[in-house]
Amino acid sequence: MPRYAYVNGAYLPHKEASVHIEDRGFQFADGVYEVIACIHGHLADERGHLDRLKRSLSEVGMKMPLPEETLRFIIRELLRRNRLQNAIVYMQVTRGSARRDFAFPAENTLQSLILTTWPFHYDNLPKMEKGVSVITVPDIRWKRRDIKTVALLPQVLAKQKAIEKGVHEAWMLDDEGYITEGSASNAWILTKEGLLLTRKADNDILRGVTRTAISKICMDLKIEMVEQSFTPAQSYEASEAFMSSASAVITPIVTIDGHNIGTGKPGDVTLRIYEEYRAYVEGLRGQQLRWSA
Ligand code: PDD
Repeated sequence: MPRYAYVNGAYLPHKEASVHIEDRGFQFADGVYEVIACIHGHLADERGHLDRLKRSLSEVGMKMPLPEETLRFIIRELLRRNRLQNAIVYMQVTRGSARRDFAFPAENTLQSLILTTWPFHYDNLPKMEKGVSVITVPDIRWKRRDIKTVALLPQVLAKQKAIEKGVHEAWMLDDEGYITEGSASNAWILTKEGLLLTRKADNDILRGVTRTAISKICMDLKIEMVEQSFTPAQSYEASEAFMSSASAVITPIVTIDGHNIGTGKPGDVTLRIYEEYRAYVEGLRGQQLRWSA
């Protein structure tokens, strides 16, 4: 069965799907993206991801390439053509293709819109049972980390450093030595006092759509979530830690910079939040949330 991608109006075999060499996404990283999980046929927080896509676009002076309803249709059609129930949906919008010039291209330049999907399984993952390890690295990104831009080289380098150290993810540190977030995930710790800490979502981090869902779950479960920065030293003392993102969902962290967190096993609170999140995605906990900056 061929695998399909969506490129500027057409569903194409994945192998043949491409954009022009002068696409501004390719030449300037002049584009934004979203990643949505599809779990057992349920799109996880599609509403929130489309809200954030619109906001990222507007922050860089672009508009939605298509009406939202059409985009929703394309997501479903691509999943259907690829016969996927458990998948990652990737969606990217760039300022289009034009002769290389730093200034924005002419108003009538067509934006590029591409979507790809790939199979992704969320059940019985070893990383959920065993947890993962992270290291901390300097955060060398720009000052608008709230925009989900495709300019991901600092995150690529951070992740690669983690892989070379034999761990799963890198948590990045700002100039004051506080953790901002993971290379592609938000960072959380549960203190010994029972407070769930995650950094305030301003321009320094991406306000995760999963993070928004977790904050609602914390209210329902009466877990005290506090938006507060924390240092690596504080994280080593935590009783639990986890990372969140569309693809990582809620992944327990069991060591940070080689320090065991809590018992060195996935924590109960983390697993409880994960369980609730799965129920939320599968429509068992009411409406999915909106996202706003
Ligand atoms: N990344 N922070 C960063 C830097 C991210 O790249 C991501 C997601 C998140 C979590 O956001 P959300 O919960 O909305 O997925 C936080 C995606 C998954 C990626 O780049 O593949």
